[in-house]
Amino acid sequence: MVGSVLLERMMEEKDFDGSFEATFFTTSNVGGQGPNVGQSSPPLVDAFSIADLSAMDVVVSCQGGDYTNEVHPKLRQSGWKGYWIDAASALRMKDDAIIVLDPVNRAMIDKGLQDGIRDYVGGNCTVSLMLMALAGLFEKGWVEWMTSMTYQAASGAGAKNMRELVLQMEKLGAVDPALKNDRANILDLDRAITKVYQEDSFPKENFGAPLAGALIPWIDKAMENGQTKEEWKGIAETNKILGTSQTIPIDGQCVRIGAMRCHSQAITIKLKQDVPMDQIEAAIASHNQWVRVIPNTKESTVAELSPAVVNGKLIVPVGRLRKMTLGPEYLTCFTVGDQLLWGAAEPVRRMLKIVLC
Ligand code: HSE
Repeated sequence: MVGSVLLERMMEEKDFDGSFEATFFTTSNVGGQGPNVGQSSPPLVDAFSIADLSAMDVVVSCQGGDYTNEVHPKLRQSGWKGYWIDAASALRMKDDAIIVLDPVNRAMIDKGLQDGIRDYVGGNCTVSLMLMALAGLFEKGWVEWMTSMTYQAASGAGAKNMRELVLQMEKLGAVDPALKNDRANILDLDRAITKVYQEDSFPKENFGAPLAGALIPWIDKAMENGQTKEEWKGIAETNKILGTSQTIPIDGQCVRIGAMRCHSQAITIKLKQDVPMDQIEAAIASHNQWVRVIPNTKESTVAELSPAVVNGKLIVPVGRLRKMTLGPEYLTCFTVGDQLLWGAAEPVRRMLKIVLC
């Protein structure tokens, strides 16, 4: 799915402009027809063939961590010196890999290229989306610590999960139409929905639980300290991308909700000092061309700060910005971003462009 979004974005941006020759690899359809990207399209090549991969100057993979873990070490052991660019977590925290989010850490990427770093990895989606929204505050050095409570879309779990979410919605929508009538007793409708959740045929093979009309407050594996791995990535990857000399504490709870492909986050920031709101908004808004500061009004929030609006777009709105009643150094905000674009494919696409320049 990330690969499809990456290809769509590359076509939109006319990246296949003839300045490089693309070879398409596959793990399942060797010899099949490659995608039509406006270049000649030779048959798909075996993605496990180290000989074929090592003929490339740059390998871009959207296959996920298992593929990277299997192929990357063999490719490097074969003496391959090309650039490896992927979006999997397998290499992210290695010392000789850079997590790429160029609107935030372009200087680190440029230094890495100069220093001969060869592995460039897209970050965790919640981390990348949070930084696209709030890097202006980190850049000013104002953040003492942060918590992020996430509302993560089905797409983060994969294509099968997106389908399962819609199947779950269909099951809920298929209760007796008489119960949905305005004059019917609402508690009868509620009881019917609860009963659907308990049916053996309720589709939950992928999520392991109902998500439609519900939520799942657990994402990824358990860590030893009670965090989930998704929650641990918040502190580990953010600090690595920012290249902080002193770790900025970040923690929170990561929750799967029934959105299709936009992750949202409610954030609390402890500022190092009482920074006025106009300066905060200016720092956020001026950081990059995709972030949007949304006025803290009901009309603007409902109209502009929702997965339904941001789906499929590169903009990263940040709203509900205000000082908390806890004190003038406590800032809260809410942000939404497309998990498949800035959360996955876009940093990888842009890294490829940087390497090709
Ligand atoms: N781990 C994320 C999620 C997606 O499950 O939503 C990948 O960054």
